[in-house]
Amino acid sequence: MTIITWLGHASWLIETDQHKILLDPFLTDNPSATKEIDDFRDCTHLLISHGHFDHIADAPQIASQSDATVVAIFEIAQWFSEKHGISNTVGMNVGGEVHLPFGVVKMTPALHSNSLPDGSPSGLAAGFLLTIAGQRIYFACDTAIFGDMAYYSSGVDVAILPIGDLFTMGVQDSVEAIKLINPNKVLPTHYNTWPPIEVDPHQWAEKVQEDTAAEPVILKVNESLQIS
Ligand code: NI
Ligand code: MN
Repeated sequence: MTIITWLGHASWLIETDQHKILLDPFLTDNPSATKEIDDFRDCTHLLISHGHFDHIADAPQIASQSDATVVAIFEIAQWFSEKHGISNTVGMNVGGEVHLPFGVVKMTPALHSNSLPDGSPSGLAAGFLLTIAGQRIYFACDTAIFGDMAYYSSGVDVAILPIGDLFTMGVQDSVEAIKLINPNKVLPTHYNTWPPIEVDPHQWAEKVQEDTAAEPVILKVNESLQIS
């Protein structure tokens, strides 16, 4: 069984029978999240797309409390080990993939800036393509639309795309991205956390239905989608 749950903003929980994988945990200062750091003491893996605060703020503490393996671009993995004493890290880079106990993780490019809270070298911003129990799940993470999405996301079952605009692609570009990606299902993320990224997800879903072959799935915070 594979279940994904939206935790608000760009934070996601991916659960398999034996693993709990957190993507970009941002809970404490996230106005849309209701879960807390302590809810994830049993987390087994952390996937970090980039170092902006709304993706990484709670990650060091969750990693320390849970002993989860942190998967991130090389520079950010190094930051976890050197600045936060996290020994369980997998440093990788865009285009590379790694086989982990729950499945395969490929790091995809993202068209976005990157930095770490203390100014340490952060490398590139990234997305993740996960293959878990035969299902391909593409987390574009913070990004603009780019043509190579079509290559990296070929054959995906589920795509999770930002729609909030301003810092990432917005509604119209996400619809164009869905045409490139051609997933069976698409879920919106990175919206309605704060007024500058307010979006009506139902209007987005209507456009997706009109212009693409994908099925839009809007989750409320803490709501889940079973993928397999
Ligand atoms: Ni960002
Ligand atoms: Mn962000």
